[in-house]
Amino acid sequence: MQLQLKIWHKMIIGIAIPSLIVLVGSIFTYEYLNDVKDRQEFVEIADDIKEDVLEIRRNEKNFFLYRNAEHRDNVYNAIFILKNTISSISQEIIEDIGQEDFSVLNESVQTYTDYIDELYESYREETKVTERVREEGRKLEDSVAKGRRAGGLTTSFVLNLRRLEKNYMFFRDKRSFLELHTALSELGDTAPGCTECISYKKAIGDLISAYSKSASVEKKLQVTGNRLEKIALKIARRERQKIKSFITVTNRFLLAAVALLCLLGPFFVYRTAKYIVTPINRLSEITKRIAAGDLNVRAPLKERDETYSLALSFNTMLDHLRERENQLIEKEKELYQSKKLASIGILTSGVAHELTNPLNNISMIAQTYTELYDKLSREDRLAFMNNVEKEAERIRDIVRDLLDFSKPKEKSFREADINTVVEKSLKLVQNMLDISNIETSVTLGSGIGRVFIDEHQIQQVLVNLITNAIQAMPGGGRLYIETGLSSDGEFVEIAIRDTGKGIPPEFLPHIFDPFFSTKGVEGTGLGMSVSYGIIKTHKGNIKVQSKVGEGSTFTVELPVYRGDAA
Ligand SMILES: Nc1ncnc2c1ncn2[C@@H]1O[C@H](COP(=O)(O)OP(=O)(O)O)[C@@H](O)[C@H]1O
Ligand SMILES: [Mg+2]
Repeated sequence: MQLQLKIWHKMIIGIAIPSLIVLVGSIFTYEYLNDVKDRQEFVEIADDIKEDVLEIRRNEKNFFLYRNAEHRDNVYNAIFILKNTISSISQEIIEDIGQEDFSVLNESVQTYTDYIDELYESYREETKVTERVREEGRKLEDSVAKGRRAGGLTTSFVLNLRRLEKNYMFFRDKRSFLELHTALSELGDTAPGCTECISYKKAIGDLISAYSKSASVEKKLQVTGNRLEKIALKIARRERQKIKSFITVTNRFLLAAVALLCLLGPFFVYRTAKYIVTPINRLSEITKRIAAGDLNVRAPLKERDETYSLALSFNTMLDHLRERENQLIEKEKELYQSKKLASIGILTSGVAHELTNPLNNISMIAQTYTELYDKLSREDRLAFMNNVEKEAERIRDIVRDLLDFSKPKEKSFREADINTVVEKSLKLVQNMLDISNIETSVTLGSGIGRVFIDEHQIQQVLVNLITNAIQAMPGGGRLYIETGLSSDGEFVEIAIRDTGKGIPPEFLPHIFDPFFSTKGVEGTGLGMSVSYGIIKTHKGNIKVQSKVGEGSTFTVELPVYRGDAA
């Protein structure tokens, strides 16, 4: 079964789906932006870590340079700040940074701190050894100055040695080391038995090992420092990267939502509009057909929406309308019948009047005939009888018309060709036409279709019309008979035109009334009235155009037969 939705359901769906797209898009975007906000915090922390580590490294350099407690404490302070930052990191962020990296960070900080301690110790050792070297150096200097020369030891040699010692302390590089070393071995060679020389050399040896110890700790410290720096930079970079990709995803999401809306939005709106308009259009189509007079149409009961009940009431209305129409037709018939009855009332008095004259005439002729019988010649007697015959004829005419008017004859409708009917009717009046000095011109249209008629009745109408035309041209004239199609193609038209006296405008509304006649004893006034009734039962029309002194045209319209009994 097809889904049956009400119009407002369809409207809600049509509006809701695009709105839903917008809503879902907005919610996702909102969520994402919220995440970005949280991320921003991570980035800040990551930046803090980086800054803290760099600060440590800076202090580390100074410590390397000054090698004293003050600068060690500076490094400690910087480490303390970093530790504080690390301890302020929430579990959530730790997870985000990655447990592994976080452990490496922590570990590195600890190792670094240990190395700083170790290095400080080493520096202190250095200081002590340096003191000793200086002391031993002075002793050696003194002994040489006091002339206690051992071997070929000269003051200048010792002074040079002391210079190389200072150089080494200052530069701590390979070159100064080698120079010192060479000078020392020379010292050993030159003064093998010099005790001050041995102590001095020993002190220098201790200095070298203290220096190398510091150097190795410094190296380890730098390595750890580098690791610390690397990991801090990595964390900071990764957090930035994550934010970037978050924003990219949000961007894509928004774009997708907008694209979806652009694609589906118009589609849904169009579908909704169509859904709503289609049944309404269908109803409007039907209303048009009803307006054109077709009461047999019914609204289809397709959609089970609001138009369903509309279509239902529509159909009920149509049923009522048709019933009303039938009643009206019935009423019309009754009215026609009652009018006819009324006419019959008039008719009876009319008939009485109409018949009285010829009857009186006959009666008078009979009386006169009887009284004068002996005095009458044979011609006179024949003339009398002729008059009787005439009066009787008149009575017969009246009675015949009367019968035509009042007695509803059995109708026998058949398909027919109007031209044939016209020709047959003409034959019936040919004799009359011949003696009335009237020329006839007949134009029969070809291919005008067929009609569905009671042929006898239509002939009667045509004979009535032609008779009237003849009577309108007592001095002779022209009779035109034409057949053809109406301009809309719905009717077959038969026009009968005379060049007679015409009908005064004030009579025009009455010519179809029963007994309306301007012909005195010559007319019954029933011809037009009977004809009108016949044409109406054929669903046709009869129209008149007339001008006094010029003539009249009567046009009969009969519906073209289309193969159905309608
Ligand atoms: N072709 C016509 N020309 C002039 N008048 C006409 C014509 N046809 C009808 N009439 C007028 O209409 C009246 C009624 O016609 P009808 O009903 O046939 O009665 P009747 O012919 O017996 O008088 C006529 O008396 C006449 O006045
Ligand atoms: Mg007549």
